[in-house]
Amino acid sequence: MFILYAIVLAVYRLYFSPLSKFPGPKFTAASGWFEFYHDVVKRGQFVYAVAEMHNQYGPIVRINPWEISVRDPSFYNTLYVAGSVRRTEIFKQLRDGIGIDGSHAVAEDHDFHRMRRKPLDPFFSRQQVQRYEEMIVEEIKIIEDRLKEHRDTRTVVTMDYVFTAMTGDLIGKICLVDPPSFAGEPDFSPDCFFALIALYTNFTFLVGWARHIPRKVLFRLIPFAARYRALSDLTDTCIKKAKARGVNKEASNSHSVSLIEHLLASNIPESEKTTDRLVGEFISILSAGTMTTARTLVTITYYACAYPEVGEKLREAVTEVMANYPDSVPRWSDLEKIPYLAACVKEGLRLSPGTLRRVVRCSPDVALQYKEWEIPKNVPTSMSAYMSHSDPAVYPEPATFNPERWMGEYDPQMDRNFIPFSKGSRSCLGMNLAYAELYLGLAIMFRPDAPKLTLYDTDESDVYPKLDLFIVAPKVDSRGVRVTVG
Ligand code: HEM
Repeated sequence: MFILYAIVLAVYRLYFSPLSKFPGPKFTAASGWFEFYHDVVKRGQFVYAVAEMHNQYGPIVRINPWEISVRDPSFYNTLYVAGSVRRTEIFKQLRDGIGIDGSHAVAEDHDFHRMRRKPLDPFFSRQQVQRYEEMIVEEIKIIEDRLKEHRDTRTVVTMDYVFTAMTGDLIGKICLVDPPSFAGEPDFSPDCFFALIALYTNFTFLVGWARHIPRKVLFRLIPFAARYRALSDLTDTCIKKAKARGVNKEASNSHSVSLIEHLLASNIPESEKTTDRLVGEFISILSAGTMTTARTLVTITYYACAYPEVGEKLREAVTEVMANYPDSVPRWSDLEKIPYLAACVKEGLRLSPGTLRRVVRCSPDVALQYKEWEIPKNVPTSMSAYMSHSDPAVYPEPATFNPERWMGEYDPQMDRNFIPFSKGSRSCLGMNLAYAELYLGLAIMFRPDAPKLTLYDTDESDVYPKLDLFIVAPKVDSRGVRVTVG
């Protein structure tokens, strides 16, 4: 019976579905197993299979029974639009059960997403992030002091943990009341790092269930999900603490209040203030705000250490502006004007964007037009930073970390292809925060009198994007970017 059903379904998908006219291999159009095989069995490899389909079939391809992928930057501003242009929805199936139910990031309906995102936006505006600069510098000082403890000891430090602890502590302070400090923990709390890896593993549906399985059973059955459970327990505790402390409506409008206090004091419906829903919301913001920026910092750090000319140029570029540090700390807006520093930030984001994975959007009200192709309304349609950022016609030798490509006059197509934070109404909430962390982090860590980092048993394969685990990850058996401190 099942076999008959599968055959009828495959025939429908191949010959009668509204997508049957789109180019692409028949076997991917007939069933989702090809994607499952590449993403789950082979771990995060479907992104490369999609790129291969485009090589073979052209800029528009049906990549599974229900989704269209486009590889053409000229379509980007049609697919990813502001809320005022038209309604945009996500493809819910891809986000279900990843342990962030309740978050704006999994709100399918356009208006519901807008309602949830609206009170968050001001917290991460450029103006507000400029107010966080002191806090950002404090966090960087903490990790620098911790690194100095290892000076000349030959202790090996994993920079992935260092930057995850730094970005995690910072977003924790912005969001929560009395969050724990990861940067102060021995070895920079690899548990924080692994909890987030657990959240983003490709077995995400298991991670989602982890909130509901009794702890003892969970720890035995799925150790990686147990780490995620620790993260969700921690978030739960911080939210309950904020609720117990009570909310001062006047103070909640000041610029120094945490996001949780601000939300609890705001006029959002009471149903939006339940602990369960807020845990999902904050796990999504904490995790999105941690691994992404940390990975970009790790990537740039690796290249600056592995290629002395990159490290030297970076040091030289920030020498003047950092001359009186720590007595005088430059502003993020001043650092943005330093061409080589800006070029390193861009090149880091190009090689290590937030996600390699295609970013899927649905247009619930109108069909979308791509050249002669009409994509029916509500059909999941995607593009990917990986494909844009690795186009050799736009970025020659795309696998090479080459900040110089962004210096002086360069092909404007490079900016058009550059989409690390996505665009439109569902683009990255934390883009400004990420930029401020990257600029300040690199200027402080690579100023001439900063602790000198020397790579230890680390090569490019420990940092170069290989796996699409929703976040970008290097090869499976990487031990991270490891350094000694001098
Ligand atoms: C280098 C750093 C970062 C990169 C490259 C990055 C990239 C992205 C991308 C591409 C998306 C769109 C994903 C999608 O639509 O499927 C996204 C969404 C998001 N990002 Fe970031 N991100 C970074 C840092 C941050 C930070 C620091 C925060 C902290 C607030 C953050 C919070 C979020 C949230 C909450 C979303 C979901 C937005 C929504 O659905 O409305 N990100 N990010």
